[in-house]
Amino acid sequence: NNLNQLYRSVIMDHYKNPRNKGVIENGTMTVDMNNPTCGDRIRLTLNVVDEIVEDVKFDGEGCSISMASASMMTESITGKNINEALAMGDEFSKMMLGEDYDITEDMGDIEALSGVTQFPARIKCATLSWKALEKGVKSSDSKL
Ligand code: FES
Ligand code: FES
Repeated sequence: NNLNQLYRSVIMDHYKNPRNKGVIENGTMTVDMNNPTCGDRIRLTLNVVDEIVEDVKFDGEGCSISMASASMMTESITGKNINEALAMGDEFSKMMLGEDYDITEDMGDIEALSGVTQFPARIKCATLSWKALEKGVKSSDSKL
């Protein structure tokens, strides 16, 4: 249907024109994460100041879903409080698990990935960048 087509084109746009691709030099947080099922990997670098995500970039290699999701994620969390960013990740996970979720407009394009739940093998692709974010925050609390 039309919504699915819209979502697909949003995903392809993020894949072809990734937002915030690259590496932040001298950021406050670097985290590497891979998807064990395929070997795709992502590196997130962030600059978090007074708990606010001032800047975030992603780098790596992966399928269209994982890269598009990472691009969307960086847009969603820029300027947000880090705990708010983690809460968004929780809502995103719920969406990917087919549970009730609450995704607001200020969270950007991430709802476009809701159709991916039809392809269970791709759910890990879509959540890779959010898992990386969670891992990074949990392992670096003291530096925030
Ligand atoms: Fe990632 Fe198939 S290996 S979706
Ligand atoms: Fe590897 Fe999607 S196939 S992250």
